[in-house]
Amino acid sequence: MKNLIIRKATSEDKVELLSLEQKVVEAERPYNASIKTKNATYYDLNHLLLDDDSNLLVAEINGVIIGSGYGQIRGSKKSLEHSTHTYLGFMYVEIEYRGLGINKMIMDNLIDWSKNRGVVDLYLDVYDANDAAIRAYKKVGFTKTLVEMKINLSD
Ligand SMILES: CC(C)(COP(=O)(O)OP(=O)(O)OC[C@H]1O[C@@H](n2cnc3c(N)ncnc32)[C@H](O)[C@@H]1OP(=O)(O)O)[C@@H](O)C(=O)NCCC(=O)NCCS
Repeated sequence: MKNLIIRKATSEDKVELLSLEQKVVEAERPYNASIKTKNATYYDLNHLLLDDDSNLLVAEINGVIIGSGYGQIRGSKKSLEHSTHTYLGFMYVEIEYRGLGINKMIMDNLIDWSKNRGVVDLYLDVYDANDAAIRAYKKVGFTKTLVEMKINLSD
């Protein structure tokens, strides 16, 4: 795609990143009634921007940020063969640019970064009903594993 670049996010992008974060929250709201109606936030942006074990990327077209995604190297459960894994999050592409492979470009970039860091196990969380996201992740090679189950007893 002409003029599309995938680059590392910087502190200068913070205002746009905060706006994209809210779009991810709104995109996921239909899948989880427990998301706060006000002031719901997901990410520690300062940490993602400054931490050496994190890689926050943005997709930009003509200087405008239209997508995002991060990888973060984390310690794994003691029971697993791998001691570290890369967790992927903040996957977002503006509606008008969806279905064009931009998420795949961001994820391929994060997968390469992870491999270069010697980490070959990657994980992410996605709502089971988020069909578009699941299709996008399957396209990159991810398969379904753990299913989170919940119950709310307040009524
Ligand atoms: C999930 C998301 C990042 C995918 O981004 P994307 O750039 O559209 O992804 P890709 O183009 O790489 O792959 C999209 C695949 O999903 C499907 N898809 C998703 N949305 C689509 C759309 N609006 N139009 C067409 N296809 C779409 C297609 O099957 C496509 O695969 P294909 O190219 O083989 O047909 C994007 O849909 C999004 O931002 N959703 C809202 C936020 C969100 O739910 N994030 C995930 C949190 S876990």
